[in-house]
Parts: sequence; structure tokens; C-alpha cells
Amino acid sequence: MNEGRGMQPSAVWAMKPLPDITAAEFRAWQELLETRSGIVLNEQRRAFLQTILATRLRELGLDSYTAYYQQVTDGPRGAVEWSHLMDHLTVQETHFFRHSPSFRLLGEYLHGKLAGSAAGAAWQLWSVGCASGEEAYSLALVAAEVQREAGLDACFGVTGSDLSLNALTRARQGNYGSRRVGELEEALLERYFLAQPDGSFTVCDALRERTCFARLNVLDLARAPQRGMDVIFCQNLLIYFRRWRRRDILARLAERLAPGGLLVIGVGEVADWHHPLLQPVADEQVLAFTRKG
Ligand SMILES: C[S@@+](CC[C@H](N)C(=O)[O-])C[C@H]1O[C@@H](n2cnc3c(N)ncnc32)[C@H](O)[C@@H]1O
Repeated sequence: MNEGRGMQPSAVWAMKPLPDITAAEFRAWQELLETRSGIVLNEQRRAFLQTILATRLRELGLDSYTAYYQQVTDGPRGAVEWSHLMDHLTVQETHFFRHSPSFRLLGEYLHGKLAGSAAGAAWQLWSVGCASGEEAYSLALVAAEVQREAGLDACFGVTGSDLSLNALTRARQGNYGSRRVGELEEALLERYFLAQPDGSFTVCDALRERTCFARLNVLDLARAPQRGMDVIFCQNLLIYFRRWRRRDILARLAERLAPGGLLVIGVGEVADWHHPLLQPVADEQVLAFTRKG
């Protein structure tokens, strides 16, 4: 029986099953992904890659993984498509105050900074791999609270950077569903968010004005303009990278810290790592370093 009888040709085509990705095709995609983003897709994620690619092949009316590979590696036209693909291949799971001990440490660090210095330059905080912005806004919330409790006007700036344009768009909107903000303390929600008629919450202008989002591939950190950062958070990003690359990226981040600056990494994301510029923070619950000097 002809299953496609009476259907539009495109619909018939869309139903056609795509062949499984071959070992050689999978290797080629693995290499491309790792070279361009650092992300290592192991054999267990083969089915995941195939599903993402197959969906896109159908949308574009292509019938082979190789044809699509050629398209994404085809100069500027390919760059747009690559960017689209990355929105789907990257894991963007995040939430406010993810790994609370890291934010507890941040609060303590900023309180200490306040106590140890006269009024000076605005604090600069950076969320590397910020996804849809919750981490960057969490940094902003802590900084705002520390300065508010000290009776000071807000004086800080937060940068969130990520590879995914789609994630950055959501971060810039700063609008989150009630479940996403449900984990926030009531007082923070009232002070820094505006309830919307549809039940969602938008980060207030005062915080959004201090927070900016930029596209940055961590493989290109050497070209990043960020310097003299007081705080850098890089959590749940390095886990997708090879060990040597994690160390490489961390070394670059260390160079971007101001003297005395704080670098916070996801627990377990790097083991036995030392850097001449950094000293480890003595906290069993957090993996963090401060810059000497
Ligand atoms: C799991 S999220 C982590 C979000 C947040 N840091 C947290 O801990 O909740 C990882 C983020 O890293 C981003 N990412 C992956 N590879 C990247 C790269 N090479 N450069 C910059 N960002 C990257 C992804 O787009 C994603 O938004």
C-alpha cells in the first residue's frame, strides 16, 4: 500500500525515514563540533546527534548528513546555519542560584570586598556560558543585595556570555516563567522582578541596565575584551570539554581576573589544577580560586 497516497509531495518526503548516520559521518560531525565549540560528543550521544541533524535535514529538505555537513561548512552561509545548529546541540539547562554554595561564597566574598576597600570602581562580574541568563542575573542579585544591605547605591556590572544566540536572546529578555523563579526567595522576587499579566516575571530595569549579554565562544577567549574582572563564574560548561581544554580555558580566565578577583568553577569540573596566578579558596563545598596580588 502507498502510505503517501493523497498527500502533498513534501509531506510524503518528510515521512521518509532517514538512514542512520554512518560511523564515518559521525566522526566527521564529532570533529567539527569539537574544533568549533570544544564540545565532545561521545558515542553515547550518537542518537542525540542523529535526531538533531535529522530534524534539521527535514526542515531544509536535504536527504543526507553529508549534504548538510557541506552546507554548514560553506563560508558565511554556513556560519548562519552552524549558529542555528549550535542552539540545538548545546545543553542550556540552568536555573537561578544553581549550586547555592557557590553563591553563598560569592556573597561572603563581596561582603569582604566591601569591608576591605574604600568606595572605588564598579564591581565587574562575568558569567561564562550564561545560557538563558539565570546565572548572570543571580550574580547581579547577590551584588545588588550586598550593596543595598550596606546602604550603598548599586555600583556593579554583569556580563553574560554564551555561544548560543537563542540562549542570549532569552537572557536579554530577562523574562522567566513562574516555575523558573519559584526557587527564588520571596523578598528577591518582589524587589527585583516585575510580575507580568501572563504570570511570568521580568527582571526589573535597575538590574537589567547593569547586565549585558554578548556572544563569545570560550575557544576565542584570547580575543575577548573582558579584563580586570572581580568575579568570574564558569559552571557547567567545562564538563563538555576535554581535560586539556578545560585547563586551557581556565588559564585564560585566570588572566582576566583583577588582582584579588574570584573565579568559581563547577565542582568536579577540573581536578588537580593549579595556576601560578591563583590560590584555591578553602571551602569544601565550592571549587573556587582567587587571584594573587
Ligand atoms: C549547561 S549550560 C550552563 C549554564 C550556567 N552556567 C549554569 O551553570 O547553569 C552550558 C552553556 O554553555 C554554552 N556553551 C557551550 N559551548 C560553548 C562555547 N564553546 N563557548 C561559549 N559557550 C558555550 C551553552 O550554549 C550553554 O548555554
